[in-house]
Amino acid sequence: MSIKKRISRDDAFQPRMDFDLVIRNATLVTCSETFPADIGVRAGKIAAIAQGLAGDQVVDANGCYVLPGAVDPHVHLEMPTAETTSSDTWATGTRAAACGGTTTVIDFVEPESDENLLKAYEKRRTQAENQAQIDFGLHMTLTNAKPQTLAHVPEVVAAGMPSFKMYTTYEGLKLDDKAYLKCCQAIRDAKGMALAHCENDAVVGAATAETVKRGITGPEGHPLARPAIAEVESITRILKLSRFARIPIYIVHISTVRGAEALKKARRNGLSAYGETCPQYLLLTDEKYSRPNFEAAKFVCSPPLRKSRDNFALWKALARGDLQTVGTDHCPFNFKGQKEIGRDDFTKIPGGLPGIQSRLALLYSFGVRKGHLSLNRWVEACCTAPAKIFGLYPQKGALIPGADADFVLFDPHKEIPIRQDWLSENVDYTPYEGIKLQGMPVKTYLRGQLVAEHGEYVGEGIAGQFIKREMHG
Ligand code: URP
Ligand code: ZN
Ligand code: ZN
Repeated sequence: MSIKKRISRDDAFQPRMDFDLVIRNATLVTCSETFPADIGVRAGKIAAIAQGLAGDQVVDANGCYVLPGAVDPHVHLEMPTAETTSSDTWATGTRAAACGGTTTVIDFVEPESDENLLKAYEKRRTQAENQAQIDFGLHMTLTNAKPQTLAHVPEVVAAGMPSFKMYTTYEGLKLDDKAYLKCCQAIRDAKGMALAHCENDAVVGAATAETVKRGITGPEGHPLARPAIAEVESITRILKLSRFARIPIYIVHISTVRGAEALKKARRNGLSAYGETCPQYLLLTDEKYSRPNFEAAKFVCSPPLRKSRDNFALWKALARGDLQTVGTDHCPFNFKGQKEIGRDDFTKIPGGLPGIQSRLALLYSFGVRKGHLSLNRWVEACCTAPAKIFGLYPQKGALIPGADADFVLFDPHKEIPIRQDWLSENVDYTPYEGIKLQGMPVKTYLRGQLVAEHGEYVGEGIAGQFIKREMHG
């Protein structure tokens, strides 16, 4: 984001009374402060933050917290796999996100082998623009280091996608060290940043073979096939390779205490490295894989769920800033008809969990309420840090004049157990079924327009926009 887009301090604090919308009696929560104020909105932007504002439409926040619209940096909507496609479309997934207080998601372009990166981007952007109900960005996925592929990296950055995802495992997606380095060099030269899915493919291959040899074919085999060491080795290696390539690196979905420690060490040694964890790695454990009747398949994701000691260490790392963000890695597959593809062979169960709607409330209920996170750290991890890291800030992730008027009214007293049948996610289960939330988003605004209220989508006719991103520094 260029410095020109920032609003000067003088403009920022001159409240005028001709606002399109005023939010009154709010307690604003940002990544650094909590304070009472009104918000004045004009033409889809925050125009003033002050006391005693007046406008055409006035909404009483009734003491609710008001925070920046949440930014989910890691989702997979309509993601094709070998056998099926993730069950939330851009329309259903972004509606669910809005109901949960998220106003921007970043998904992925996944070019087919040898497909031109820009053509793949255009296709994916059109698919999203035709349906998205909240704003969105895209990360580009690199699955090979061929010169003809890497030649397009600068154009991809110029098109507003400066972040490139690389996998260390999965057939058809994985890169070896040599290819990873080549990709990183091209990304670095174009002033972009790397994202990595870290699981050592050789360890996963060997552990899978051993599990199958033991006659284990059900979903209980999944965590055995993807042990913690696979993640730890891969994160450690990717951090070192990224240091060598002099590239900023974001590690997605960190699930282990030792993975988080490796990141912390690299950061302390000066590497421009960032780490994400997900609600499932903070709240759920591998005990779920003991569920009978194939129910364990509902929890098959990669990396798999870990131990309660990992949950605890990840909360600590998040609280201390050793991990920077919480993304959902929302990648839903129905239990019936999709997870069932792997009924006789756990390696064929489509991997991924739903969660796009519950992130903010889960992190409040189990992070803030349980004393792991301050209010401001909650907002930083779910809203501001993803926006800053991925070049959306201060348009997104901020409650300041000049920012998009994306915000959430969050009622800290509203209590409700999560149930699949009230979620808007297009999937037949939730991994959080029955978990009691204490605190819920009650109104979500996108560029000054109400898009969700009390868990219902109300923004019919409001279209999400592609947000071009630009890295800082
Ligand atoms: O199992 C998962 N997490 N599926 C989604 C794709 C990925 O690896 O992030
Ligand atoms: Zn991944
Ligand atoms: Zn993912």
